[in-house]
Amino acid sequence: MADLDFRALLGRWGTGVSVITAQSSEGPAGGTVNAFTALSLEPPLVLVCFDLSSRTLHAVRESERFAVNILSAAQQETSRLFATKRPQSDKFFETPHRLEHGAPVLDGSLAWLVCSLDSELRRGDHVIAIGQVLDGGYDEHADPLLYYRGSYLQPPMSKEN
Ligand SMILES: Cc1cc2nc3c(=O)[nH]c(=O)nc-3n(C[C@H](O)[C@H](O)[C@H](O)COP(=O)(O)O)c2cc1C
Repeated sequence: MADLDFRALLGRWGTGVSVITAQSSEGPAGGTVNAFTALSLEPPLVLVCFDLSSRTLHAVRESERFAVNILSAAQQETSRLFATKRPQSDKFFETPHRLEHGAPVLDGSLAWLVCSLDSELRRGDHVIAIGQVLDGGYDEHADPLLYYRGSYLQPPMSKEN
């Protein structure tokens, strides 16, 4: 591992981009996350990996509930904003949102899921949060925001059917 640029290697895994949100006693919190994965269909489970320094992780723990907002190509600025350590109130002041089942959902997302916190597992400098999916929705027509090698990829993308 000594000479390996682990971050650069992991950046070769192309992903979508999500903003994970939760409603804490101080208001809504949210952070940009690409370590989001489907885990189980029956029961419906997903997982999210949080850096231990993530403020959103604390809001998730407090409310035991979170939303996964899968971003559309039109939400690149939202991704940049939620990747900052600006006050959560600034992030949400600039981003239209609503509450669904007690979790903030960002308007204009490609898809969203609301989960109850099932369990968590700490490993290294991250926590894996497993969520049981309570509800969700998606936009049939929007394009995804994609992330690869440290950059956002924009449409045009071609998709058959
Ligand atoms: C494309 C992208 C993907 C990211 N993925 C993750 C991730 O999977 N987990 C994580 O904890 N932070 C991730 N981050 C960093 C967080 O967005 C950043 O630390 C943010 O400030 C967290 O906000 P918070 O402290 O309000 O939760 C990512 C950032 C970017 C730009």
